[in-house]
Amino acid sequence: MPDMRYVAPKGTHDILPAGNDRKDWADDIEKWHWLESVFQDLCARYGYEEVRTPTFEATELFKRAVGEGTDIVNKEMYSFVTKGGDDITLRPEGTAPTLRAYVQNRVWIERPVAKLYYVASIFRYERQQKGRYRQHHQVGVEALGAQGPDIDAEVISLAMAFFRALGIPRLTLKLNSVGTVESRVRYVAALREFAEPLLPKMSADNQRRFAENALRMLDSKEERDQELLVDAPLLTDYLDDDSRTHFDKLRGYLDAFGVSYEIDPRLVRGFDYYTRTAFEIQSPDVGSQSALAGGGRYDRLIEDLGGPATPGIGFGLGIERTLIALQTAQVDVPSVSGPAAFLCPLGASARDACVTLLAQLRDSGVSADMDYTGRKLKVMLEQADRIRARNAVILGDSELAEGIAQVRNMTTKEQTPVPLKELAQALLM
Ligand code: HAM
Repeated sequence: MPDMRYVAPKGTHDILPAGNDRKDWADDIEKWHWLESVFQDLCARYGYEEVRTPTFEATELFKRAVGEGTDIVNKEMYSFVTKGGDDITLRPEGTAPTLRAYVQNRVWIERPVAKLYYVASIFRYERQQKGRYRQHHQVGVEALGAQGPDIDAEVISLAMAFFRALGIPRLTLKLNSVGTVESRVRYVAALREFAEPLLPKMSADNQRRFAENALRMLDSKEERDQELLVDAPLLTDYLDDDSRTHFDKLRGYLDAFGVSYEIDPRLVRGFDYYTRTAFEIQSPDVGSQSALAGGGRYDRLIEDLGGPATPGIGFGLGIERTLIALQTAQVDVPSVSGPAAFLCPLGASARDACVTLLAQLRDSGVSADMDYTGRKLKVMLEQADRIRARNAVILGDSELAEGIAQVRNMTTKEQTPVPLKELAQALLM
């Protein structure tokens, strides 16, 4: 047994090369490559461009964007003061950094509607459980500069198209409108009026939320809080006319696209920045952590972060949860083939020859690897199988004398002598 003195921190995981012993898909890099390439292809098809932002940002950015009364800011951020005295936080979500970059780099000058996407590690100090990590990863998009419900429909249908392309079954799209900042003020007043007499029975967290940021009471994960709020007023009853029209038009577009959804008037999501559209895509295949993706519109946020008044909408989609759902549903994942050739030298001179041959093959564009351990042929062939090499190239003293190699097709097990000069050509076919 190796000395396990150092293990990955709680709530994190390693993602490793594929192998039979990789039992969780969330730990298998091949699955990640596939998922990311499907996402990137789709983003290209929908006209979204990639942005990459730093892993950490000023703490103030997240306090301002996500909101002071939220669980993320109150309990879940990895924040620290640097040696130079700066207050820094590992990004707990992808929207605020993307918008900070948009404002700082004046992206709107070249792109009146900027359609951006990202693939990012995200850090939240949460209680670890299946599908809930302290470092997880998201792919996400943010469409900035367009305010109509047509772009909302595009963003939502992009997320649904992604899940469809991966082959995930049994998804539910939950949809709500959280209105404007003004309509929410009216709603929160009604919510507080309803909740006040119930406060003594509520959790300490919800009592604090009542005082600081009452809308966040609806995020409580405590069952008794949820029960107490069952008859609370609904946001949808307080919508302003424009938000209602926006919501109706969005529904019309989704109907036209054939995207089905459920209206959930209680869906508020745990961020203060949302206005109007909010949505979540859920799967029953990840256990208690059912949200695979979530997003919404944030028409005030860019202005709040110091940019020009610019509307926006986006979503974040959890990569680990998506892989868990794919594994639970036993979805067929295209397998990636290994190198064209695995060189198996038999003896010292053959090994010298293979070192040069390997370099030549690679220069000619052939993906190739070789055995560096001097093991028996049987073991080398097993290794060729393990890495899914298409061919094993066997070279011993007699082959060397004749200027040939035995090329063994790893699928058919057929073996053919090929002159070394023609090897690259043969392997490229
Ligand atoms: P979020 O709902 O907090 O939204 O996260 C998006 C997705 O990330 C979730 O649906 C879930 O799949 C995954 N996720 C969240 N927390 C964890 C965790 N601890 N472990 C594993 N997966 C997790 C946002 O972050 C917003 N920025 C989305 C957005 C973009 N809204 C507008 N634009």
